[in-house]
Amino acid sequence: MSTPVRAAVGEGTNVTVSELAIRGGRPLRGRVDVKGAKNLATKAMVATLLGETPSTLRDVPDLSDVAVVRSLLEVHGVQVAEGDEPGSLTFDPSGVESAHMEEIDAHAGASRIPILFCGPLLHRLGQAFIPDLGGCRIGDRPIDFHLDALRKFGAVVEKLPSGIRLSAPDGLRGASIHLPYPSVGATEQVLLTAVRAKGTTELRNAAIEPEIMDLIAVLQKMGAIISYEPNRVIFIEGVESLRGYDHRSIFDRNEAASWASAALATDGEIFVGGARQQEMLTFLNVFRKAGGWFDIQEDGILFRRDGELKPVVVETDVHPGFMTDWQQPLVVALTQATGRSIVHETVYENRMGFTDALVKMGADIVVHPHGLQDGPRRVARRELEQAAVITGPTPLHGADIVVPDLRGGYSHVIAALTAQGESRVSGVDILSRGYEKFLDKLTALGADFDVIR
Ligand code: UD1
Repeated sequence: MSTPVRAAVGEGTNVTVSELAIRGGRPLRGRVDVKGAKNLATKAMVATLLGETPSTLRDVPDLSDVAVVRSLLEVHGVQVAEGDEPGSLTFDPSGVESAHMEEIDAHAGASRIPILFCGPLLHRLGQAFIPDLGGCRIGDRPIDFHLDALRKFGAVVEKLPSGIRLSAPDGLRGASIHLPYPSVGATEQVLLTAVRAKGTTELRNAAIEPEIMDLIAVLQKMGAIISYEPNRVIFIEGVESLRGYDHRSIFDRNEAASWASAALATDGEIFVGGARQQEMLTFLNVFRKAGGWFDIQEDGILFRRDGELKPVVVETDVHPGFMTDWQQPLVVALTQATGRSIVHETVYENRMGFTDALVKMGADIVVHPHGLQDGPRRVARRELEQAAVITGPTPLHGADIVVPDLRGGYSHVIAALTAQGESRVSGVDILSRGYEKFLDKLTALGADFDVIR
């Protein structure tokens, strides 16, 4: 039985909420709790396919991407059930079987995670079908690194009109792979494939995001042998078989950073339960430089302003740099800073489109689609770079806006809460991809809004 993919932005509802009327100008105050990271939970769920015994994942967030992966596992014969505590899921892979292409296609939703099923399915079944992938519209988001790596492991890739079919007639063997860029997804692809490939895999220029380190911890619990060396090198010694795991997911640092920026933008005070300092060091530095104040506590972090907001220059980057998912909510706060801020987007080629709506609301933001050529840099320029120059402070006013993608959509809602007057924000259902119980959290923070439909 598969679970229907739903977009639960409200507590205990299966209702898709697509439009909000938001009345802004009121600071957000209160507590929100963040659970397991979307960017770990979904990958750890795919890893359950590799085990010969059941796995338990704890602190699984109730997100539409999680629902997509759950249904894809179920169509492949994995039995998924509630675990022994709220928010935990168990996965029994003993009945893994091939699924029909149409069925896989119907359950893949708008997520990009299905590409990570390749290695585990090739090991278990000798073949895999991956439909054309969705995900947020933030650039081309190609899968060439994934396919090149899979070919090096010995997979045969066949392109079909509706997706790709992979097979491994001679099994998969360890490979030497150098990623052209430290892609998060491609690193995970290599890890999930190499752990059971015959021989040793050497991965160079790997991504080292905290969620990847947590996935390595999951795989080690399953019996994998993975060593992490300096300079983005990971060695994986393939093993004959893996068992299930019991693991509590790392917290969602992207959601935590989002609420921190919401406190900054609305001049409120938000305690983010479950947030930890270690994985957010880079964010916290920028937050402080922008005029934010935070207090690290045992069970979370308290965020608010520390007087007037100040302009900052930020470059998004792979870990340990400033994560690309952090920039959009921060940009809303920067519209309220006194002076000129610059945000260089170096990870994706099309992640500044969300600023159009902020300009409509009164912000002074100029996007340079090919980046800024001049000025001191920490990160080397990338071909696909964009830059946004934000001059503030500018009062924001309500507007009718359409959410473009997950993080951009969050920033629109925060902008509407910062603005004077009423905004109509449509397409908010997309927020259920990354924010659990989003409307309940807004309510808990005192936001003034109505659900239109
Ligand atoms: C993951 C995160 C996302 C985050 C991103 C960067 C998940 C579910 N999503 O996305 O929140 O913003 O990392 O930290 O974990 N690229 C290629 N070819 C490929 C793969 C990637 O050119 O085969 C490029 C992308 O177009 C992009 C860059 O590499 O410019 C980074 O992408 P990647 O790190 O792979 O992001 P995702 O894993 O999709």
